[in-house]
Amino acid sequence: MDLYQLLRQDHLKAKRLFERLGEVAEAATKTRERLFQELKQELERHTELEEKHFYPALERHDEARELVGESLEEHDEIGLLIDALDQAEQEGGDWAMRLAELQEEVEFHIDEEETELFPQAQELLAASEAEAIAQAIARDKAAAKEK
Ligand SMILES: [Fe+2]
Ligand SMILES: [Fe+2]
Repeated sequence: MDLYQLLRQDHLKAKRLFERLGEVAEAATKTRERLFQELKQELERHTELEEKHFYPALERHDEARELVGESLEEHDEIGLLIDALDQAEQEGGDWAMRLAELQEEVEFHIDEEETELFPQAQELLAASEAEAIAQAIARDKAAAKEK
């Protein structure tokens, strides 16, 4: 299993969820809530798995430390925006604007990972190490599904 392909699959899934959320009418509250909860779970799980398995391996290399630091900050920002959106959902305000903010932040982060962080990781991590990380991520994902 290819690590970068695995992570890109998650990115694509998040992008598709944003697209579907954008198509849902304001009035379709239940569908919107369901899609948002799916997106939230997806993003939280993805960032958590990257932080647990992928980023620490990269951080061992000095060259990667700056980019990993930026990525961690972006994960935090994404987490805050998700929480704000969850709150807005409950209160019924500002939803579309907050969704657009989250989408922008997530797409920026995904783009940065795919165009800067992944290429750097491909240079720094041995193929066997990347493979082991991919397996650890897949294992955690499978375990989470069983719950
Ligand atoms: Fe990330
Ligand atoms: Fe990612």
